[in-house]
Amino acid sequence: MKKLFIVANWKSNKTTSEAHEWLLKAERGYQFIANAEREVIVCPSFTSLPSMKAYIIQKNLPFKMGAQNVSPFEEGAFTGEVSAKQIKEVADHVIIGHSERRKEFGENDEMLTKKVQMALKYDLIPIFCVPGVDTPIPQGISVVAYEPLFAIGTGNPDTPEDAEMVAKTIKEKHGAQCVLYGGSVKPEDVKSFTQMPSVDGVLVGGASLDADKFLQIIENA
Ligand code: PGA
Repeated sequence: MKKLFIVANWKSNKTTSEAHEWLLKAERGYQFIANAEREVIVCPSFTSLPSMKAYIIQKNLPFKMGAQNVSPFEEGAFTGEVSAKQIKEVADHVIIGHSERRKEFGENDEMLTKKVQMALKYDLIPIFCVPGVDTPIPQGISVVAYEPLFAIGTGNPDTPEDAEMVAKTIKEKHGAQCVLYGGSVKPEDVKSFTQMPSVDGVLVGGASLDADKFLQIIENA
């Protein structure tokens, strides 16, 4: 059986206390569905990462932590940036190249390549997002998330067949080991994606904010 990756991308949502409430709920439910074949990665805002990481270590919860962004620079005089070295203390993964970063913050291929290089240098696993098969993917990427623009936050996911075709192409073209699908994934349709042979999991935005819904996604996947 293939290993599935289920990633929660909270975007700019949840205060630290809301994040903790989510974790308490998820902790209660998760013991019933814990499964070695699934890797669950939660990506909150930077402000919540340290306390969430401390809590999952203290309680030995089977969640991994991820950041949603990383500085393209080393530590130093870069006001407002969070470096890969700093992130490594509290997370194992980092989302890079999300379409919201590309669109709202002008992140281009050159900057994204620098971010990937920093992440890899400090042993973070980038989850590199692309809207389609033609988007450049920097060297060293093993996990890619295919997220078509029309499907993000719209309630209108791509078809599983399309996701399969794109995932297969990305693996062949770029040698990625894992390709996830993201864009309006819900508990009722997650399985239609994860059962596709080339799709190794899902990146979930809106539906991951509710702990019960997210647990259901994990269970149904
Ligand atoms: P969505 O977001 O699940 O709310 O569509 C996915 C994403 O942007 O990563």
